[in-house]
Parts: sequence; C-alpha cells; structure tokens
Amino acid sequence: MDKFVVYKSSLQGEVEISGSKNACLPIMAATLLTDEECKIFGVPDLTDVRTMIKILEILGKKIVFEDGVLVIKTKNTKSCVAPYRLVRTMRASFCCLGPLLAKRGRAKVSLPGGCVIGPRPVDLHIKGLRELGANIRIDKGYCIGETKGLRGKRIFLGGNFGSSVLATANVLMAASLAEGETVIECAACEPEIEDLVRFLKKMGADIQGEGTPIIRVRGVKCLQGGEIKSIPDRIEAGTFIAAGLATNSSIKLRNVQPLHLTSVIEKVREIGGEVEVDNSQISLHSRGYISPTEITTFPYPGFPTDLQSQFMSVLSIGKGISLITEKVYPDRFMHVSELNRMGAHIKRQGPYAIVEGVERIYGAEVMASDLRASAGLVIAGLVAEGKTEVHRVYHLDRGYERLEEKLKKLGAKIKREKQ
Ligand code: EPZ
Repeated sequence: MDKFVVYKSSLQGEVEISGSKNACLPIMAATLLTDEECKIFGVPDLTDVRTMIKILEILGKKIVFEDGVLVIKTKNTKSCVAPYRLVRTMRASFCCLGPLLAKRGRAKVSLPGGCVIGPRPVDLHIKGLRELGANIRIDKGYCIGETKGLRGKRIFLGGNFGSSVLATANVLMAASLAEGETVIECAACEPEIEDLVRFLKKMGADIQGEGTPIIRVRGVKCLQGGEIKSIPDRIEAGTFIAAGLATNSSIKLRNVQPLHLTSVIEKVREIGGEVEVDNSQISLHSRGYISPTEITTFPYPGFPTDLQSQFMSVLSIGKGISLITEKVYPDRFMHVSELNRMGAHIKRQGPYAIVEGVERIYGAEVMASDLRASAGLVIAGLVAEGKTEVHRVYHLDRGYERLEEKLKKLGAKIKREKQ
C-alpha cells in the first residue's frame, strides 16, 4: 500500500486534465447494449476503469485498453452476473443492470453495499427499471432481474436528495431498447449524463432533453457499435483549481470544459481567485488571501459534492468563518477530523460544517477515507507547515490519473512511498 509524503509548496505552470472517470464508467456499461465493436477515447487509467473492464470481461466482452483508448468487442452474451467481489469495490458497476436487462433480458448484479460517504441506496434504480416492466427481486445481496421485453413509460426519478446520476443512467440506457417512449422526470442534468446520451445517439438511440430534468427516450429495436471521446474530468479540474487557490498560486489547466465548472468558478472568484476562461483552458491567479464564504452542495449545475472536501481545505486557511452545507451526502465529512488533526478549526453539525479559518496548519500523518476526501488532504498537505503523510492513497488512484506526477510537474513537493 502506498502513501503520499507532501510538503508546503507553491504551484506554477500548466496541467493537462484527463478524461472524466464519471463519464467513462457509464459509457463503458452502455457497450452492453450492443454486440458490435465500440471505441472510447480519452479514458483515464484509473483503478475504477480497470474494475469496470474486469466486470465487462466477465459479462462476455473482449477489451483492449492502450494509451487511453478502449476497444470493446463482444465474445459471448451468456453471462449476466456482475459479482460482489468487484461491484463492492466500485458502485458505478451497478449501472450494468439496466443495459443487461434491456439487451439480454436477464441480469444478476450484486448490490453495491456500504460507502464511507454515507448511505447510498439504489432504490431509484430499481424503481425506474421496474416501471419499465422488469421483474426485479433482491436475493442474498444480489439484484436479480428478468424481462421478456421492456416497455416505455413516464417515470419520476426524484429522491430525497433530488436527482440521481447513475439511476438516470441505468434507466435511460434500458429505455433506449424498450418498446415505445419513456419520459424520465427529475432526471440528473450532469455533463456525464449528456456525454452518455451523446454516445447512445452514436449507437442509434433516439433521445431528447439530456442536460435537462426531463429526458425523452424513444426505444429502438437494436443499437450498433459507436465511438466517442470522453469529456474532460470537471472534478479533477476543480481539484487542481482548489490546490492552486490554497497554495496562493497561478496555474493554467488545459483540456477542460469551463462551462461544466460555472458554479465552481463563481465560488473561486468570491473566495480569492482571478479566473480567465479561454475555450478549453482555465487560468487561475490567486489574490493572496482567502475570503470566507458559504458553500452548499447540490446536484448539477449546483456546487459539486465531489469538490466539497477540497474547498474545505482551502477555507480552513482562509480569513473568517465559512459555512459548508452538504445537501447531497449529508454525512460526507470523513475529512473533518483529519483536517482538525492538522490544526484546522472545523466543527461539524449534521449536514453543516463551520470552518473557522486559521493562520496556518501543520503537517501530520492523516488517513484517506475516500476518493475526494483524500484529495482534500493532499491539498492541506501542500499548505501545511512541515511534513504530511497521506496514508491509503489507493483511494486517490481510483479517480485521479498520476496525481502526484501532475502536481510535481507544477512544482509541488510530493512523492509516493511504499508504506
Ligand atoms: C455519482 O454517484 C458520482 N459517481 C459520485 O461521484 C457523485 O458524488 C454523485 O453522482 C453525486 O454527484 C459516478 O458518477 C460514478 P447519486 P451516484 O445517485 O450516481 C441518493 C466520485 O467521487 N440516492 O446522484 O451514485 C444518494 O444516496 C463519486 O467520483 C437515493 O436515495 O450518486 C445521494 O444522497 C463519489 N437512491 C443522492 O441520491 C438511489 O437509488 C445522489 O446520489 C440513488 C441515489
């Protein structure tokens, strides 16, 4: 197991953002909707991507992954089981359920199980697929479904915390081969859903309204193979922006889609950064101080929950009192105690965290608990006095491609070490 050793650093120069993990994973699952060859370009080399490859291979796909290009062919269509040993390591594999039901008429997908960021039920996924006519039962930790043919329907997919990204993906993929029209209400509007629909349309699907809360899908008899280049990873981009802000640096991000970061850019300008946007580049110039603010996470286009911990690290060394409200995962605060171990002053009360900015924080040994919390701890390490050791960086490798190399190229004092 590896750890990161991080020292106080200032950053400068340019960083290339990778393709989006959260766009590529559902797109990979969508290849189950056809037996023809599919190609996905700009795929980041992450453990989550490699897990999805393993699952698709178990489901009869033959996959070559080189230099960010996935070539996916179909060897056989017999198997319909996505095993617990893989699904438990990566929830996104649950969105193989819809495509398997729609294309093969049966599926046995393990329930994802617990997650440190809080309860993550899949009731909306199951509700939506049942409304399309699938018989679904839960047995020994598996979601077992079958259908003689799905049928389009009007489905309300809103939950207690609003829309669901992967439930929207699961249902719209299944609906693309269902008979008749499906209307998904309270659909997720995330750019990753738009990218999935872009791919499905290349496969021959008939879909409208992606990027809005109402998506209309007219089912087709079959889908052909398709090719797509993944959108850039907006969460990776937001992570580098937070690192630049926290370290009072000026950096440039290349291969970004600025429109996907509107709520984040607005917050950065409020906190203390000049942001220039130019086509697929963002330049950040820090103003040398960090003003207090209020951040409330929401489904897209609101402020992303996947950047909450990174911006908490920024505000922990800011001026004054900031308030963070976590509306998507109310328990997503595993990083608070670790930041307080570094000398931050953060009080958590239910879905709220009150961040009292301090002059400085100090290096310490800290434990990564999940993907984004660990990114927040790395950022804290870049501003802390002395040495910070971030343990269990396998969490980071799930969602950041060569993070320490990219940071090092920007001048960060960071290295990966065996524990
Ligand atoms: C996606 O997860 C992302 N994962 C998550 O990113 C991200 O945090 C999340 O969307 C929210 O933006 C991928 O795209 C692979 P949700 P997803 O269903 O789709 C509740 C990262 O760091 N809910 O939109 O699983 C749920 O508990 C990861 O890259 C139900 O109640 O999230 C949550 O409170 C972490 N019932 C809210 O909805 C359901 O059936 C939003 O979750 C489904 C969800």
